[in-house]
Amino acid sequence: MADILVCDDERNLRELLCLALEGNGHKTLAAANGTEAIQMLERLHWDLLITDLRLPDISGLEILRRAKNLEPERPALLMTAFASASTAVTAMKEGAFDYLEKPFAMEEFHLAVSRALEQGALKQENLRLRQAVGACVAGEEIIGVSPAMRRVLEMARRAARTDASVLITGESGTGKELIARYIHANSTRSQGPFVAVSCAAVPETLIESELFGHVKGAFTGAISHRLGIFVEADHGTVLLDEIGETPLSLQAKLLRVLQERVVRAVGGSGEKAINVRLLAATNRDLSDEIAAGRFREDLLYRVNVVNLHLPPLRQRREDIPLLITRFVEKYARRYGLSITGLAPEVMACLMRYSFPGNVRELENVVEGAVALTVEGRVELEALPEAVRRGEGSKQNFVFHLPEEGLDLETHLLHIESCAMEQALTLCNGSKTKAAELLGMSFRTFRYRLGKVMDVK
Ligand SMILES: Nc1ncnc2c1ncn2[C@@H]1O[C@H](COP(=O)(O)OP(=O)(O)OP(=O)(O)O)[C@@H](O)[C@H]1O
Ligand SMILES: [Mg+2]
Repeated sequence: MADILVCDDERNLRELLCLALEGNGHKTLAAANGTEAIQMLERLHWDLLITDLRLPDISGLEILRRAKNLEPERPALLMTAFASASTAVTAMKEGAFDYLEKPFAMEEFHLAVSRALEQGALKQENLRLRQAVGACVAGEEIIGVSPAMRRVLEMARRAARTDASVLITGESGTGKELIARYIHANSTRSQGPFVAVSCAAVPETLIESELFGHVKGAFTGAISHRLGIFVEADHGTVLLDEIGETPLSLQAKLLRVLQERVVRAVGGSGEKAINVRLLAATNRDLSDEIAAGRFREDLLYRVNVVNLHLPPLRQRREDIPLLITRFVEKYARRYGLSITGLAPEVMACLMRYSFPGNVRELENVVEGAVALTVEGRVELEALPEAVRRGEGSKQNFVFHLPEEGLDLETHLLHIESCAMEQALTLCNGSKTKAAELLGMSFRTFRYRLGKVMDVK
């Protein structure tokens, strides 16, 4: 049941309400004035605040404000004998869930309490879900627990409301296409088509006709008319994937299309107005491409009105456990297998691995492991050799020796203490799990932890 804070300066009423709540199985905290109430709000756990409006020291509204500052999702009820429409409105504006006019019947009180608690529980659950799953697109969840991914999703949501061109950057397999689909699905164009075209997969000579269309007989093999993606995606979104690989000749044409918003089919004479939103993705660093003379700077400005950068998975390891859980569920369901979960060593091994292929690689590894397991727990043997041996883990660690040199001993200790702290955070403070994550025995971990703490 719930922890409920009751604040009223009338002792009889306070005690009566606390007794009534305890009778329903709740735990109560009683405060006789505002100062006491605020101290309790700050120091103790509470699920619901019930406070009188007029108190000898601080107004009930002020307590409500403090409570909302501390825990915006927790409900609060206000009581008053001096009811007026304007205070009721103020109370609701400040986030009170309900407003009880004294004197009230106990029945009315209990009803308000249970409604407030229900709503509080619902809000908590929503908050939990929002934090775990960043978003959903076409039934696929976009997992984003890490602050970095949450930021990306928030920016994507904002960009989706506009028609601005977005350049999505990030290593291969980080989810660029998924984010592009998400932007489309959350934009006013969501009812229109979403067409993705890879500028790398299509042979150079064909990209132009693929994008802008061609007329019959324009070139050998052009046996019929073709509209081209920019026309097909009318009122929708076009994703130019791997835009960094577009040949220079086509970049010039693309720039013109984006500036003038018209296309001309290969071999055709007329122009057609287009109405599409442009998204582009690349795993290359376009400023390097510009420096090397392989990419037009003016085209970069056109496509990069908003930049969304997806960090590699190794820089947001907090996302790994939930991604694994969701992929295990997905593939167990798809193959009709009854998998109960992962052996702890499997999770530890995956948390250590660097995933050069990012989320796509993680998904493939999990799919393979699930398929090999058939039933019960996924064991270490089901992981590919490379993952078990932790290959590629070194990519995780880039070291540049400063010109002035450094004290290696201290530096190593610093790295060790960072690794240990991060492992502890990831494992919610469990030293056994943190030790496992760092490939150490529990005793070694405890010993080394003591040592780095001493140095600090
Ligand atoms: N945050 C995420 N949550 C759930 N699934 C994800 C997430 N990010 C990526 N994926 C999954 O990983 C796979 C790779 O994602 P996607 O194709 O969007 O990557 P990409 O960045 O476009 O890769 P590439 O550069 O190789 O084209 C997809 O199956 C996608 O559904
Ligand atoms: Mg892609």
